[in-house]
Amino acid sequence: MSAADPRLGRRVMQRLDELATDTDEEGCITRLFLSPAHKAAMERVRGWMRDAGLAAHDDAVGNVVGRLEGASLDAPTFIVASHIDSVRNAGRYDGTFGVVSAIEVVEELRHRGTKLPFAIEVVAFGDEEGVRFPTTLSGSRAFAGTFSREALSVRDADGVSMGEALTAFGCDTEAITSLARDPARICGYLEAHIEQGPVLEAEHLALGIVSAIAGASRFNVTVTGEAGHAGTVPMALRRDALAGAAAMIAAIETEARGTEGLVATVGVIEAKPRAVNVIPAEVRFSIDLRAPSDVLRLGAVAALEKRLGAIAAERGLRLTLTPLHEAKATQCDEVLIAELKASLTRLGHKPRELPSGAGHDAMAVASLCPVVMLFLRCKGGISHNPAEAITVEDADAAIEVMLDFLLHYRPRGRQEIAA
Ligand code: GLV
Ligand code: MN
Ligand code: MN
Repeated sequence: MSAADPRLGRRVMQRLDELATDTDEEGCITRLFLSPAHKAAMERVRGWMRDAGLAAHDDAVGNVVGRLEGASLDAPTFIVASHIDSVRNAGRYDGTFGVVSAIEVVEELRHRGTKLPFAIEVVAFGDEEGVRFPTTLSGSRAFAGTFSREALSVRDADGVSMGEALTAFGCDTEAITSLARDPARICGYLEAHIEQGPVLEAEHLALGIVSAIAGASRFNVTVTGEAGHAGTVPMALRRDALAGAAAMIAAIETEARGTEGLVATVGVIEAKPRAVNVIPAEVRFSIDLRAPSDVLRLGAVAALEKRLGAIAAERGLRLTLTPLHEAKATQCDEVLIAELKASLTRLGHKPRELPSGAGHDAMAVASLCPVVMLFLRCKGGISHNPAEAITVEDADAAIEVMLDFLLHYRPRGRQEIAA
């Protein structure tokens, strides 16, 4: 099968095109956590899961979960998952590929009449991007038992709390804690995802294996100065919150440029009172900081706290840094990596390992069970952008590898998993 007749890849590509029509904004793909488009996408995915023979339901935190029993009812469970929420004006493959390909794999197993010595749960997590609320990985954290109820009080830009949004969506927030899976019953986790970077394409490789996922820290920064008349207040007497924020943003970029492996992004900024002739009194901006090493990332956080504090003091501004999200760097499981490498090799692919700079649900699930990720080449390494693109042949190759991996995988004993 594969390249000459990419049957499995073809249907996945068609379904990804269909899923792209579930959007909160006409003319582009925006599918935020607990939005109408998220609801529509969940319904679509749930239907595909059922067609594939999975027993599917929506859970209390906005995930869709489909289950295929193994050869025996007491068999452990292997999770194959990714997410269906998106950034604003997104591409059509980030997250969705991992969900739709997992459903295709199950469908193919059923088609072949294969019973595995473990159950499979396919999960479409609902909150990986962290765009709507200032938290993220809610769905995968609920699985891992690390969802914090404090997250229910965080609010979106319209002042709606996550708890209120979940309730309006039909979720029972009291039931979220009971979603935590028993680590003794979950033997592993596989997430297929587009690479979102240029490495595989540059090396002419369709697929790669994630060795580790960079850790991340996110903050909201509020800089408070004093509003004043743009024509009358001399420059030396101003407490301009936006000019101060600009100096801070430049300092953040300098810190990241000067630290090998560190990346920093200010992706949201708003100034008040937002008038052409008023000195800005208050600015809020976001910081997203990532590094493969936690020591390096936490060192950069400390250095930036100091540097931003100094800029605020020099300019007579008040600075508040609110941590929003913290995820440690995650190592993928060595045994699962070796097994995925064996699948790639069997199917004629070079078993290339590479780190992930992007965050993934696998980071949250790693506290529950061993995790591994399969990366798929994407055009130009472009992601978080409508220009995201993959080929049907690569999609097919990824599905063949996922199938081969599951067909060869044997659950390890509890001690081996814990070791
Ligand atoms: C998710 O795509 C992230 O890495 O922010
Ligand atoms: Mn993603
Ligand atoms: Mn993303």
